[in-house]
Amino acid sequence: MLRVAVCVSGGGTNLQAIIDALRDGKIANTQIVRVISNNRNAYALERAKAAGIEGVCVSPRDYENRDLFNDALLACLKEADPDLIVLAGFMVAVPACVIAEFRDKIINIHPALIPSFCGKGYYGLHVHEKVLARGAKVTGATVHFVDEDLDHGPILLQKAVEVREGDTPEVLQRRVMEEAEWILLPSAISLIAQGRVTIDDNRITHIKES
Ligand code: GRF
Repeated sequence: MLRVAVCVSGGGTNLQAIIDALRDGKIANTQIVRVISNNRNAYALERAKAAGIEGVCVSPRDYENRDLFNDALLACLKEADPDLIVLAGFMVAVPACVIAEFRDKIINIHPALIPSFCGKGYYGLHVHEKVLARGAKVTGATVHFVDEDLDHGPILLQKAVEVREGDTPEVLQRRVMEEAEWILLPSAISLIAQGRVTIDDNRITHIKES
């Protein structure tokens, strides 16, 4: 059984996609053991509760400094004892201590085709604003492993999404979520649960045939 901890900050639509995929039997041999939010008001925590999954808030506001928050987040994750950590709309920089403890066991969903439109300042709606400002005709989403550099770890899955005439950032964000994010993240978890994902010495991922 693959034990999965999901880190969230907001609406939790990516978390919901995982919950729904598990319910529908699209991800085998997997259990979400904990949902962790840095934001106590995150609707994602309501989604976890409705699905009977333990939700925990670890907020930077509750700690005197960032180091104490980082230690608390690491402790909360270790207590859940996950095989995989999924960042699903998680807006907190993952502390180095967490990355070191869970090396190559953390994946993130980014709402663009890495290495385009990623890195510092490229999160949430800002990504789609910049895609439109650049006049890109294709965008999409990426699931990648998380390392110490922002949006930099080995790419696991990507899916392209058309940019259409007259798109607003909000309309484009929704299309990227529906047509890419909510498909890719459950697929990535399923592949990992099946033991089909490896990362080679050049930090390139490989997916074995089922
Ligand atoms: C989405 O834009 C997603 O691409 C990014 O975080 C935002 C919110 O996701 N990773 P969610 O609805 O909280 O899953």
